[in-house]
Amino acid sequence: MSRGSGDSDRRVRHAGKRTASSARWLERQLNDPYVRQARAAGYRSRAAFKLIELDDRFRLLGSARRVVDLGIAPGGWSQVVRQRAPGARIVGIDLLETAPIDGVTILQMDFMADAAPAALEAALGGAPDLVLSDMAANTVGHKQTDHLRTMGLVETAADFAIATLAPGGAFVAKVLAGGTDAALLALLKRHFATVRHAKPPASRKGSSEWYVVAQRFKPPLPADQRPEGASQEAEPAAD
Ligand SMILES: C[S@@+](CC[C@H](N)C(=O)[O-])C[C@H]1O[C@@H](n2cnc3c(N)ncnc32)[C@H](O)[C@@H]1O
Repeated sequence: MSRGSGDSDRRVRHAGKRTASSARWLERQLNDPYVRQARAAGYRSRAAFKLIELDDRFRLLGSARRVVDLGIAPGGWSQVVRQRAPGARIVGIDLLETAPIDGVTILQMDFMADAAPAALEAALGGAPDLVLSDMAANTVGHKQTDHLRTMGLVETAADFAIATLAPGGAFVAKVLAGGTDAALLALLKRHFATVRHAKPPASRKGSSEWYVVAQRFKPPLPADQRPEGASQEAEPAAD
């Protein structure tokens, strides 16, 4: 009987057409306990565990009633939202096609398109109380370019959250370490009572991804209700 073919330490040969990097990816997938757990639990992605871990720590989903899932495909996060907030209305968006999920409205379109915010709001039927973004730009292999492209998505997601969230709502987004994070944090701190960074255990240690968790949204005052001479942007950070 062969003892060398178990799951615990699979090696992938990269002969033939497979490139070294795709062989490394496949080997990591085969050896990754979260991939196996996701399959066993029926989640479409190992990313589902990142949201589970974030929710266990920050209590995001229990009271959520309207949730936006930016970068929904293949659907792991929305599956978790369905389980943990069964009464919530959920709308997701992705460039890629996403197989249907019971109880979730899925838009296949570019979140950066001008029409996207209105399409999301119309599908949701009211202000979200939770905006999730797990969006990541396709990497081109140039670290700074990849960073800027993903941070562009996150900043647009933050603007969307600030423009649409109900008072007290929350925003969770994947960010990449390095460079533009400070500007994003400053923006969030002006609009949320608490802003924290987290690296959930399911996030691979070698990756530069983090999650920013902003809670207790404070909507900007309408211009006609601001004290004279005060600018919303000039408010001090709360946290
Ligand atoms: C890491 S995956 C999301 C995984 C998902 N949270 C899950 O649990 O299954 C990132 C997704 O962001 C999407 N994405 C990237 N740029 C986008 C854009 N401009 N508009 C919409 N989706 C985008 C990608 O197509 C990809 O499916």
